Amino acid sequence: MNSPLILSLTLLLGACATPEDARVVSKTEPASPEQIEASRAVAKSLATQLGGKLKQELETRGPESAIGVCKVIAPQIAADLSKQTGWQVGRVGTRARNAATGTASGWNAQALGVFAERMQQGEKPDALEFAEIVTAPSGTRTLHYAKAIAMQPMCLTCHGATENLSAGIKARLQADYPLDRATGYSVGELRGAVVITRPL
Ligand code: HEC
Repeated sequence: MNSPLILSLTLLLGACATPEDARVVSKTEPASPEQIEASRAVAKSLATQLGGKLKQELETRGPESAIGVCKVIAPQIAADLSKQTGWQVGRVGTRARNAATGTASGWNAQALGVFAERMQQGEKPDALEFAEIVTAPSGTRTLHYAKAIAMQPMCLTCHGATENLSAGIKARLQADYPLDRATGYSVGELRGAVVITRPL
């Protein structure tokens, strides 16, 4: 039991657990107005491009076909913006439909928590954003930015109460997203956020 390996492991774990140790603690500071503005513009571009495509598809080909916009075109727009900026652009939900890409964790989840709290205090979701710069123990600096996404009437077709979804939509969602948790929302509710991770 008293082998040198176990002893050194114990020492190592003990060292890592010390919270005061600067090497293992990330530092957080506010982002500058310019950094926030640039991030906001990219988040807005995602929302505008996606909203336009979604609306057009809903009007011309109907809701079942519009599922394709959310499934294929939304990640594509996010990927294009990521490529253009060199940042990581995506969307997360307060409850995810696409469990793989839409689940909030870490700072995303923290941002959604802040948004939910501020909405409870009466703030409008459209104005809510979150920004911070994190310096990792290695010295790497990253800007985290999130912009709240609120439910609008046109979102109800696919994210509203299950009993109000059409049979066709329900069937498509069940087939494509067996782990879907993104129904039961009402207009004005916090649906999620556009999230951007930007290496500095
Ligand atoms: C035609 C159906 C449809 C409509 C209308 C729709 N969505 Fe979605 N939504 C989806 C699908 C399908 C996904 C999963 C996309 C994927 O696989 O990445 C999704 C994913 C999302 C996500 C990503 C997080 C997650 O749950 O995976 C957000 C945020 C979101 N939708 C918000 C909205 C908002 C806001 C509106 C209204 C402006 C809206 N959606 C309208 C079908 C729809």
